[in-house]
Amino acid sequence: MAFIEQILVAPDTQYLDLLGPMTGFMFGVLASYTGLLLALAGLSLSLQRRRPVAAQYVASLWLASPTAMLVLGLLPMASLTFLLPQLLHGTQMRAGSYMEILDGLFLVSFAALAVSRRLVRAQAKREEVQEAGRPSTIDHRPSVHSGFNVQHVSSEAAGILALVLTTISLFFLTSVATLAWHPERWAFETSLLPWLFSVQVLTHFANHLAVGNLLAGAAILLLLLGWWETAIPEESSERNFLHTLSRALVGVSSLVLAPLLIWDLYTVPSFALSPWSVALVVVTVAVLFPTTLLAAAGHSASSRRFAGPILALALAATCTVFVRHQSVLAGVSREHTTVLAREAEARRQQEVALQERLYQKGEADVTLGKKVFDERCTACHRWDQKLVGPPFDSVVGKYAGRIDDLHAFIRNPAKVNPAYPPMPNPGLKEREIRAVAAYLVEESSKRVGGPK
Ligand code: HEC
Repeated sequence: MAFIEQILVAPDTQYLDLLGPMTGFMFGVLASYTGLLLALAGLSLSLQRRRPVAAQYVASLWLASPTAMLVLGLLPMASLTFLLPQLLHGTQMRAGSYMEILDGLFLVSFAALAVSRRLVRAQAKREEVQEAGRPSTIDHRPSVHSGFNVQHVSSEAAGILALVLTTISLFFLTSVATLAWHPERWAFETSLLPWLFSVQVLTHFANHLAVGNLLAGAAILLLLLGWWETAIPEESSERNFLHTLSRALVGVSSLVLAPLLIWDLYTVPSFALSPWSVALVVVTVAVLFPTTLLAAAGHSASSRRFAGPILALALAATCTVFVRHQSVLAGVSREHTTVLAREAEARRQQEVALQERLYQKGEADVTLGKKVFDERCTACHRWDQKLVGPPFDSVVGKYAGRIDDLHAFIRNPAKVNPAYPPMPNPGLKEREIRAVAAYLVEESSKRVGGPK
């Protein structure tokens, strides 16, 4: 975990190089898996007429292994959600808490998938036994003879989709729990508007809770519609209970979510607000309204036909909430980057000013000057000899009492003597400029009267 943290959460420079290959690898895995699924689905469809049994077999391969789906599909997808932003922005994302949550979630998802497979198999077996007991109803025989078993596959797809919804729902609910557990992170949520601190954190909690519950309700509805079609008898008390539960979850969450979203418009810092995100709130509220009404409509069995529309509305509302969240986040990070850049620039200027002041006060370091001279000047200059540049004996003297001008020349050499090419900028630090100039002046004064 510590290693993962260093790579993903707070990438150390030594691990940054790994991000690219890791992202590429995960993409490769995901793309091959998706490609494989598509190929199998296509193959199964094309075999449907001529070789129904083979088509059936291929179709079952498609959804056969929850482990494969988890390892080759969901896991790379989840890793990519963290790897990609790191790779693109190279910043420290707040990925830590999410990684912790994900680890747990994948365990739960895996267990749920395993259980789901078991349930479906058990149901299929029960049906088979029933079919076998009925000698005359050949036309009712399912699966193998009718080729591609749409019912079977779609109910499994519903199960998997419900699982994804549950996962996202859990994700939201756990994020509320994590946030409650780590009060020190609250400041991050609201550092931009301290006076709204507690209000915003509370809204954040409530928002996540509502979305989590909305999704949980949607997941149960989906299961009722598609997956447990045959597993739970139509008029059983379990079914009634699940119906009521899902409607209550969706109804209450959508009822709560609408005012929360509107309130959020007021508490989100203005720079994070775009016309786009305001429009999304309006759309979401407009979708949430009929969702609440439908979910609340009647407790009788007849209201079950609303399940489909409720599910669709709940999903639509969640999508818009997601998109809006992203748009607000984008606004915040844009602003954050600007603020950071501004702070960094101010800080840099402070440092530069401080250094300048230090160098101005301190004695120029002649020893350093000699070193710079030997390393950086002697390629083109001698004291008494013309090389690429003029002999120092002939030029340094004119800077006597004008040390600042000498600094200026070395800092940024201007064209002086038409007999010479221009001197390239040696790119020295301020300290080195002062040192080498001091050395030149001192050495030049020693040479006056000395051997020319
Ligand atoms: C790549 C060659 C090259 C290097 C390296 C070089 N110089 Fe020069 N330097 C020249 C040339 C050419 C001139 C003449 C420029 C002109 O007259 O326009 C010159 C001129 C000068 C002058 C005379 C300016 C004037 O007012 O006439 C000074 C002083 C000087 N260099 C200092 C330095 C110092 C100090 C360094 C080392 C940090 C250095 N140079 C490194 C090529 C070089």
